[in-house]
Amino acid sequence: MTGTEGHNSIGRASREAFERSRRVFVDGTTRVTIERDPIPRYAARGAGAYLFDLDGRRFLDLNGNFTTLIHGHGFAPVISAVTSQLRSGTCFANPTLAEIDLAELICGRVPGVETIRFVNTGSEAVMFAIKAARAFTGRASIAKIEGAYHGAYDWVEVSQSSTPDDWGPESDPASVPYYRGMPASVLDQVVPLRFNDAARVEQRIAEHAHRLAAIVVDPMPSRAGLIAPTPEFVAAIQRAAARHGIVLIADEVLSFRQGFEGASARHGLKPDLFTFGKIIGGGLPIGAIAGHREVMKVFDASGGRPLLPQGGTFSANPLSMVAGLASMTALDQAAFDHLETLGDRLRTQLGSVIARHRAPFSVSGVASLFRIHPKATLPRDFREATPSAAEAHVMKELTRSFAEAGIVLPVGAAACLSTPMTTGDIDLVASAFNDFLATRTDLIESLAA
Ligand SMILES: Cc1ncc(COP(=O)(O)O)c(C=O)c1O
Repeated sequence: MTGTEGHNSIGRASREAFERSRRVFVDGTTRVTIERDPIPRYAARGAGAYLFDLDGRRFLDLNGNFTTLIHGHGFAPVISAVTSQLRSGTCFANPTLAEIDLAELICGRVPGVETIRFVNTGSEAVMFAIKAARAFTGRASIAKIEGAYHGAYDWVEVSQSSTPDDWGPESDPASVPYYRGMPASVLDQVVPLRFNDAARVEQRIAEHAHRLAAIVVDPMPSRAGLIAPTPEFVAAIQRAAARHGIVLIADEVLSFRQGFEGASARHGLKPDLFTFGKIIGGGLPIGAIAGHREVMKVFDASGGRPLLPQGGTFSANPLSMVAGLASMTALDQAAFDHLETLGDRLRTQLGSVIARHRAPFSVSGVASLFRIHPKATLPRDFREATPSAAEAHVMKELTRSFAEAGIVLPVGAAACLSTPMTTGDIDLVASAFNDFLATRTDLIESLAA
């Protein structure tokens, strides 16, 4: 930290970088997800659990590039695997042993994953999983969870950010466009479902079953609240998919980090297809579609043109493969146990802080993921998790005060822990939260108003 400035005041170097970037990027950045207050903080480097900005300030990184960096920054096994691969070649128009190694690890680990294909992002993985379901069933429409984020593919963007003004009745959520000009045909082909609405979900799927290729569900959708699925909801989705021959796709791009076997196994979901990304690339770009051989056979080009052709110049590039293998190999049961212990400690401590201050907050999450809600009662779905204007303001102030304490807390999405973190880091987060609730009583009172 420089001088006596708080962490939250964006330093001079970030300001200068932003001035330059505004000339070449329409909004000064090149990803909508970059957080800015009012401008972004530029990263200089990362080391373990910490991120250093251009002004030399150090932050405990609870974002980890949107939950990707499960081993933190600069993980030595990834550095050495990538360095060595760089010397042998970065990409080829040929398969490599590296892709088999990573595929064997994932297929050997996740129940229900018999076979896999690699792509470059989670968005691409979700896109191909949906196309695979279409090719398998011969149907075009999909059902998805209202408010759930599945990346940048038109069909999954429907109702991604519905608001109380447009989300429609509880029993029949409206298909809400994500951007101006989104084709009406896309909206027609998406049936939004309410998360955890076990009573209604089967009926709603039955009503549209004749046209549904897939039900896309993140077992614990982060942007929709990072709320655990109820066993009744899991069973209802599972039954509906089986009864109507609809492909059940579990999007584990983010939630795969919930356990050694992933999130579906943890929550009792048995999907036909999975999508993965983030942690399986060790910090390099990656995505994967995986699952039962019967459905995955749509990709089979061994006898000529497959039902679903899938290529990609950089798909299964060896850099992502070796980085992913190094990262995933180190994610053994002990590593998951460590993350689980840290996560439980954090959620318990945050809960105690809330109780001590009798503050209207709650905390969701499992394993290495958590999310603080400015709501006295833990939300059960996206609608309940959607913040009011006052709640959104409080969360922005919370993020600011965390930044002043040297902690990066994502706004409106899951925060995450990484293996290099210690109990000291957890205590720092709890203490920053305690300070916020102790000193910002004016704001907290605004929640009750
Ligand atoms: C559940 C889920 N699916 C898909 C994606 C898209 O992945 P990517 O950003 O790699 O395209 C994300 C990204 O955050 C995600 O959280």
